[in-house]
Amino acid sequence: MELNILTLCYIIASVTFIVGLKMLSNPAKARNGNLVAAAGMALAIFATIFLYEDGGEKLGNYAWIFGGIIIGSVIGTLAAKKVKMTAMPEMVSLFNGMGGACAALISAAEFNHLYQHYKGPMDIPYSSVMPVGEYITIIAGAIIGSVSFAGSVIAWGKLNGRIKDFAFKGQHLLNIFILLLVLAAAVFAYQSQFKNIMLPFLLLGFFAFLYGVMFVMPIGGADMPVVISLLNSFTGVAAATGGFLYNNKAMLTGGILVGAAGTLLTILMCKAMNRSLTNVLIGSFGGSKAGPAGQKQQGAVKEITLSDAAVVMAYANKVMIVPGYGLAVAQAQHACHELEKLLESKGVNVRYAIHPVAGRMPGHMNVLLAESDVPYEKLLEMEQANEEFATTDVVLILGANDVVNPAAKTDPASPIYGMPILDVELAKNVVVNKRSMKPGYAGIENDLFFRPKTSMLFGDAKKVLQDLVSEIKSM
Ligand code: TAP
Repeated sequence: MELNILTLCYIIASVTFIVGLKMLSNPAKARNGNLVAAAGMALAIFATIFLYEDGGEKLGNYAWIFGGIIIGSVIGTLAAKKVKMTAMPEMVSLFNGMGGACAALISAAEFNHLYQHYKGPMDIPYSSVMPVGEYITIIAGAIIGSVSFAGSVIAWGKLNGRIKDFAFKGQHLLNIFILLLVLAAAVFAYQSQFKNIMLPFLLLGFFAFLYGVMFVMPIGGADMPVVISLLNSFTGVAAATGGFLYNNKAMLTGGILVGAAGTLLTILMCKAMNRSLTNVLIGSFGGSKAGPAGQKQQGAVKEITLSDAAVVMAYANKVMIVPGYGLAVAQAQHACHELEKLLESKGVNVRYAIHPVAGRMPGHMNVLLAESDVPYEKLLEMEQANEEFATTDVVLILGANDVVNPAAKTDPASPIYGMPILDVELAKNVVVNKRSMKPGYAGIENDLFFRPKTSMLFGDAKKVLQDLVSEIKSM
């Protein structure tokens, strides 16, 4: 009877994961989607704690279990409440690493459990009693979980600047060699006699951990969102192996959903950046490695004063704001919303053009603007925005660069060639706010800044927006 209720709880939990994930695809419903899936997870956890039985015995160990739950919940809640929007990828990475570590520890515990279960004479090979399918499930969880944990911690360190990029010639060959050592240790452990099995199993964990570190070490900091998404999918697969081990449907569904969603997200991010995954993992996008086409000097730019920019926007019919990474850095989303409301009160039609990879994480701009209560209907996706630019009087670019770089369409030698961009030049006027002429993520110059319709409004986005608001108010 109890087992049936438990199964029912797992099925309900699995349904909430799927419904929650579906709701995440709509920004207006995303918050509730998260709560629905979290409620399902809580149901699965408490059902396991109170209803699961093994040979008629309940789980027990309640002090340990609830001690862990309380400590984890307090740390997680405080961290999530305190985190700044710009540090979000870091936190996601660290939490993902914890998921990987859990999956690896579950595999290690289960390895020991099955070792005790099958243990016979110490000189017979482990493979003679341990079913290969069960062994592969445990080993896969241990390897993928360790790689995900180590890689996520390195990604976290890189994003917050604690760990510097580290690459050397032949590193990828070394990585392949380490991966072979992992597989060799797995095969060796399986073939070993009972008395010799622990050393190869520990070596397997160590090499998998080392692989996770070495795999993420050479990847540029700005590529981390793609890598984190990939590691996220690894953690999902590692958790799904735990679901197989414990015959736990909720863990299995949750793991598979995370694995599949992470993989799809990784592919979509690469596609939107017009790069292959291999190019992200071994490539040279960004920094100083941009090709010659990205480095050519274009001449002088035209600047616009704050009061002129205020006049142009206040007397426009339609203004399109293009937010980018710089807006997040400046934490200027509230000032931006204030400007939008002020312009709307003067009869200007204001919309936002959202590029799919603006910022540094998927949906970065949506989340940022939602934080300052910008109505969702005001956000236009790239395709919609591109249809609107021709009838737009002023485009105000706030800390965006690569996503409006025409080289993506016109210069086959450019590293961003082929990436879809926002066609801002179709508008009558383009005002670009950034602090200097420094390039964006791709490390290349932007021809748009030198074009006749473009005027530069230099300064920190928050300060510039606050000054624009004061200027328009005093008009
Ligand atoms: P970027 O091309 O990175 O340009 C951001 C610009 O913001 C910089 O040129 C910078 O110029 C300016 N800026 C920085 N701080 C500022 C501040 N306080 N005030 C005003 N401006 C500031 O940004 P983007 O156009 O959003 O493009 C995103 C890039 O990241 C793309 O290349 C994309 O492929 C890549 N990427 C995106 C993702 C996702 S999923 N979103 C993941 C990985 C990589 P100054 O220094 O001169 O101010």
